[in-house]
Amino acid sequence: MSETPPSPDRLIIRRPDDWHVHLRDGEMLRAVLGHTARQFGRAIVMPNLSPPVTTVARAISYRDRIIAALDPGAAFEPLMTCYLTNETDPDEIERGFKDKVFAACKLYPAHATTNSEHGVTDIRNIHSVLERMQRIGMPLLLHGEVTDSAIDIFDREAVFIERVFSRIAADFPALKTVFEHITTADAAAFVESSGPNVAATITPHHLRINRNAMFEGGIRPHFYCLPVAKRERHRLALRRAATSGSPKFFLGTDSAPHAIGRKEAACGCAGIFNAPFAIESYAATFDEEGALGRLEAFASEHGPNFYGLPQNTDRILLERGSCAAPERIKAGAEELVPFHAGETLPWRFAGKAGGSSEPA
Ligand code: DOR
Ligand code: ZN
Repeated sequence: MSETPPSPDRLIIRRPDDWHVHLRDGEMLRAVLGHTARQFGRAIVMPNLSPPVTTVARAISYRDRIIAALDPGAAFEPLMTCYLTNETDPDEIERGFKDKVFAACKLYPAHATTNSEHGVTDIRNIHSVLERMQRIGMPLLLHGEVTDSAIDIFDREAVFIERVFSRIAADFPALKTVFEHITTADAAAFVESSGPNVAATITPHHLRINRNAMFEGGIRPHFYCLPVAKRERHRLALRRAATSGSPKFFLGTDSAPHAIGRKEAACGCAGIFNAPFAIESYAATFDEEGALGRLEAFASEHGPNFYGLPQNTDRILLERGSCAAPERIKAGAEELVPFHAGETLPWRFAGKAGGSSEPA
């Protein structure tokens, strides 16, 4: 007998974490951080600054700047990552991991995306680093796209599995690996069929848009990110993976703010700023899929379990009700266009559960 339980109007879940976010630096950091810290207990902070976070000293200094930018009393823990280059020293990453500065290393194939020019040009250049990471249990976070200009941009993730990921998996079978921001049915299937040491993050936007969004009635730069959104069948596969209850899939927003003028330009930057309404966006998707009961596991349990970290103990409240996203959000002297700009979402974040509600 299968009966769909009635969809609730209030949802209390363990505080979620964001396992993939770009917080930037300076004035932009101060402008965007509150949106992430309001909802999430922790976040894996991407290291693609300029210059990138390649050493323990740089990570400590960046972490200090993030903590200094938090509102007083905010309970938020940034988890730092090391940007891998052809020259990364295995001893440096081991020291950072053992000292609890680095939670993971991030592999950007050189020229795959924003500030990736110092990234790895060939996986063979970091064999000793991957060997060390496998030995000490340090997770590898992959931007999974090849950069070969002969490969169609919509195929770059699938070809990455074939050319790179399958080799990493064969050479380092016990390496903990997160396939970041997956966008294809191929990636979801690869992760599903791999061992428990391989997982993936899924963004709010790849669950909601397909590649048409970038071209609806004209060019739509605010829907351009990397990896780029794919065909509808891929979006549907991602929705199935995220809501499946599999511990291999967890929340990672890939919120990537770029000032409006850098998006609406002749050569616009890749990235979707989804931090302001991230948990609301996931809640809407899970609700549409009849899977609200699985939101907590995806948002708050699978990530810490994979990383070997404790789950958050506090809880947040989500309420059914109108949540209007503005067209623009101020960021110091700049402006940002958030994901869902101008839309009204059916769920809203209502603060800490049990305590006094923070303003949403
Ligand atoms: O769209 C993206 N923006 N994808 C990335 O991989 C990087 C990010 C950014 O830093 O702007
Ligand atoms: Zn990213």
